[in-house]
Amino acid sequence: MGRAIGIDLGTTYCVTAAVRSGRPEVLWNREGDHLTPAVVLFHGRGQVLVGKTAKHATRDIPADCAEFVKRQLGNPDWAFVDSHGGAHGAEKVSGLILRRLADDAAEVLGEEVSDVVISVPASFDDACRKATREAGEIAGLNVLKLVSEPAAAGIAFGATGVEPGTLMVYDLGGGAFDVTVMRAEEHSLRVIATSGDRGLGGFDFDNVLMSHVAAEVRAQSGPDLFDGGRREAELREKCEQAKYALSRTHQTRLFFSDTRNSYTVEVTRLRFELMVEDLVRRTARIAEDVLHDAGLSWAQIDRILLVGGATRMPMVRRMVERLSRRSPDTSVDPDEAVALGAAILADLETGSPRTPTSQAGSRT
Ligand SMILES: Nc1ncnc2c1ncn2[C@@H]1O[C@H](COP(=O)(O)OP(=O)(O)OP(=O)(O)O)[C@@H](O)[C@H]1O
Ligand SMILES: [Mg+2]
Repeated sequence: MGRAIGIDLGTTYCVTAAVRSGRPEVLWNREGDHLTPAVVLFHGRGQVLVGKTAKHATRDIPADCAEFVKRQLGNPDWAFVDSHGGAHGAEKVSGLILRRLADDAAEVLGEEVSDVVISVPASFDDACRKATREAGEIAGLNVLKLVSEPAAAGIAFGATGVEPGTLMVYDLGGGAFDVTVMRAEEHSLRVIATSGDRGLGGFDFDNVLMSHVAAEVRAQSGPDLFDGGRREAELREKCEQAKYALSRTHQTRLFFSDTRNSYTVEVTRLRFELMVEDLVRRTARIAEDVLHDAGLSWAQIDRILLVGGATRMPMVRRMVERLSRRSPDTSVDPDEAVALGAAILADLETGSPRTPTSQAGSRT
């Protein structure tokens, strides 16, 4: 048996992790990043590129780049058709992503990766789960098990192996929002209630900012940035970067140019927060509904775990704090928690656990 790893197969970004020297650790990819964009470029004549290069290519050859494929897993009627006429189902595209993730992990670990635990949203039905397993098989991997994303996150935050308690996992990723209430016992995590919105994630925050920035550039007599091609891809990339910046600083600038002029758009955090207020409110309503379905009140939730890159936005943290009247747990990196939990399970599945689950809450 080769090395077992955990994989967070995301809508926008993927992360791999493995237990090394007794601790779960996120693995670097070939580009030196922890996050691998879930983008596949079909470059003709069977050439395929996955990850950062493919994400950058969305600017120049968007018609050949498959994105957000996780949303289509389990949908037999969907296929990505590239500009050369090749049709690729969601399982195949996800399989190509998984293969690349496993290859990069093998490179870092210095040994073959054959066995994987892959995380899936709690809302995935049998068809979606089957499609995820198939993607693993297409990648030539042995899928030891699928783990639900909130359970993996709970394990990474060290929710098992300590005192029993009730947790809420608030997961705002790139393409989806999920909220899950779970009961943690000594050796298990039991889902009490879960819900979400498969069409609400960081991507939608980017869209709102893109509309604002494009309108500002037009107001300066600049070009229409929504050209369905290169300008729009550039706008998307710059808006995502600006959104990251606004999670750390209070204002940022975006620069554009055409053959005649350059255009500058300044965005403050406050302005951005007002623009996306409705999106955050939607997540709050879903969290309240899940709590209601669980038959619980905020006071009965012992810990709230923030998961998903988009929870880095300060307004999300403030909203969770205001609703629950407690500080959410941010002790594990929100991008990495799911992969770390999956890695711990992969280690346990191979029968020679190199770490106790209770150690998993610590940062790696
Ligand atoms: N510092 C930050 N500030 C704001 N948003 C961020 C930050 N870092 C990452 N994000 C956003 O988080 C999202 C990606 O999060 P994550 O990697 O958890 O999603 P995912 O796992 O691909 O998606 P999903 O869980 O929906 O399948 C992107 O929209 C990204 O722009
Ligand atoms: Mg995710």
